Amino acid sequence: MIVQSTAPSNIALIKYMGKSPGNKAVNKNLSMTLSAFYSTVEIYPTKETQDIWRPLSGSENLRLSTSDKFITFFRKELLKDNIKEFYEIRSGNNFPSDAGLASSASSFAALTKAIYLLKEKLGLEAKSIKEQALASREGSGSSCRSFFSPWCYWTEEDIGSFSVKIPPLVDFVVLADQEKKKVSSSQAHQNIRTSPLFENRIERANLRYEKMKTALETGDYKKTAELSWDELWDMHSLFHTSSPPFFYFAPETIRILRFVEELWEQTGHGPVTTIDAGPNVHLLVPEEESLSFATLLEKNKFQYIKSKA
Ligand code: DP6
Repeated sequence: MIVQSTAPSNIALIKYMGKSPGNKAVNKNLSMTLSAFYSTVEIYPTKETQDIWRPLSGSENLRLSTSDKFITFFRKELLKDNIKEFYEIRSGNNFPSDAGLASSASSFAALTKAIYLLKEKLGLEAKSIKEQALASREGSGSSCRSFFSPWCYWTEEDIGSFSVKIPPLVDFVVLADQEKKKVSSSQAHQNIRTSPLFENRIERANLRYEKMKTALETGDYKKTAELSWDELWDMHSLFHTSSPPFFYFAPETIRILRFVEELWEQTGHGPVTTIDAGPNVHLLVPEEESLSFATLLEKNKFQYIKSKA
């Protein structure tokens, strides 16, 4: 092995949805980095006459389109520095891939880190985290946020971490369906442009971003949860009203959302809730409440995996 790297996943509370060429986000967005869900990439020499990809031992195979995207990005990056040798890339996640858990974020971030470690080994100058994040964005947009933790903002002008006053959160990913999704998030970015709701989406998301960032920075957990709920429905409404419409919800997704709604009704507070381009629901709760929250999920027969920031 020549180099090895790892990178965490992240969950956006204000979504990157709608993009311009080079995976530039059309709206401001922000995310929490999920340290327990990560990808590992290893690079090996090869005698092959092209770059090849293999799963790390014990890891799942990627879809062909995903491994092609991986290899194409890898080669493009190496050619920027005129590196002509071929390599074997091995990668894997420690969580189920392609199930709405942003595996492309952690895997492209880990791949980019590995590429820059390789370039250093070959005598090239080291790049800053920000430069690496922006390079990674070209592979998959949301991966650029995985370089910053525990919270990351990403706007047209800048990207970086920011500090919050809300307590440290644990993300319970409540599993609704493990099937591979039919519409990739890359495709969703294109399809939503056909929705009549896309017209004011950028303004809505940018305004919600400002409010959410302030809520996080001032420690307003309740406001954060309200804004996250609105953003969830805003993005999924874009999906539901595109032509043709598409949706990610599974029957279990609805059961989880009803559970959250009831919690709010009964107790006046509840988790920060969000859903990516997939059926699983992310419920973020303060770490000190996480044990009792886990018991509550189990009592209601929900299956979950969890990560701290
Ligand atoms: C719904 O980063 O997967 O998860 O840039 O085409 O690779 P590409 O898209 P991707 O989009 C992520 C979309 C999202 C929301 C988010 O993470 O902000």
